[in-house]
Amino acid sequence: MRQVDAVIRDRLASRVALIDQISRYIIGAGGKRIRPRLVLLFAQALGFEGPERYELAATVEFIHTATLLHDDVVDESAMRRGRSTANAIFGNAASVLVGDFLYSRAFQMMVSVNRMRVLEVLADATNVIAEGEVLQLMNMHDPDLAVDEYLRVIRYKTAKLFEASARLGAVLAGAAPTVEEACADYGRSLGTAFQLVDDLLDYEGNSTELGKNVGDDLREGKPTLPLLIAMERGTTNERETIRHAIQHGELQKLADILSIVRRTGALDATRAAAEEEADKARQQLSALPESVAREALLELCVRSVHRSS
Ligand code: IPE
Ligand code: IPE
Ligand code: MG
Ligand code: MG
Repeated sequence: MRQVDAVIRDRLASRVALIDQISRYIIGAGGKRIRPRLVLLFAQALGFEGPERYELAATVEFIHTATLLHDDVVDESAMRRGRSTANAIFGNAASVLVGDFLYSRAFQMMVSVNRMRVLEVLADATNVIAEGEVLQLMNMHDPDLAVDEYLRVIRYKTAKLFEASARLGAVLAGAAPTVEEACADYGRSLGTAFQLVDDLLDYEGNSTELGKNVGDDLREGKPTLPLLIAMERGTTNERETIRHAIQHGELQKLADILSIVRRTGALDATRAAAEEEADKARQQLSALPESVAREALLELCVRSVHRSS
């Protein structure tokens, strides 16, 4: 990961001062770096040691960071990675444009690896992420959203990049198609579990630990799984409270809603759904030979569900 950091620092360079400033601002704040870790761990687990793994690990972190810059504009979020968001400090226009810079820099980096399969995987992933974010936009303020539609959104907007990251490790290693699919499935399931927990933490998490404000989803009227389950299980009154909050984006109802999602067991049920996905991810690891890297991938399944940041 130190090598990846060095590539990241090097590839951020731009002749335009504001790009340097904003990209270093958000990337310098850290982040968990889960996606680049997936690239490295799968490459390592399958015996690939070339420097391309560092380039692609940095590439997926750039794509991730670009989506965060854009996502915080769309979500009107004020805090990210323990700092004010880039949009709060530099404005929406600058955030969107620097997000575009990071996206296109990511494409320059993936081309430098000179493998058509890599381009295919990442072009598909970025396209699906965009579909996911637009689908989610269309679902905003809709309390009647079906759970399957919600799951489709999180598979697109979040799980797809986890899937691509895992798959890239396998592609670099020239793994057999069945092994590559197992890696991709691991990534998809882990990413789904990860977003389920993110949606949970938006209700029961702690802003300081998370480095982002809780309640953003409610403020926006985002129908996430904790609310969908609570509406299904709640009393008529409780259901009405949540419906109204989704339709109008009522952050001031956070305390009421929190007690409803707790009482109905909706938070526990969301965590259970995440556990189930993490378990699916874990099962895919039997396609890999035993190794330290495989152990780390196993550990990642546990940590993605039991986390507070
Ligand atoms: C945040 O991702 C966006 C989601 C998909 C929930 P991370 O939680 O991986 O963000 P950082 O990189 O650690 O800040
Ligand atoms: C993740 O969804 C969005 C992306 C994949 C960029 P969220 O909107 O829940 O992510 P956070 O909570 O802002 O990090
Ligand atoms: Mg957001
Ligand atoms: Mg979130």
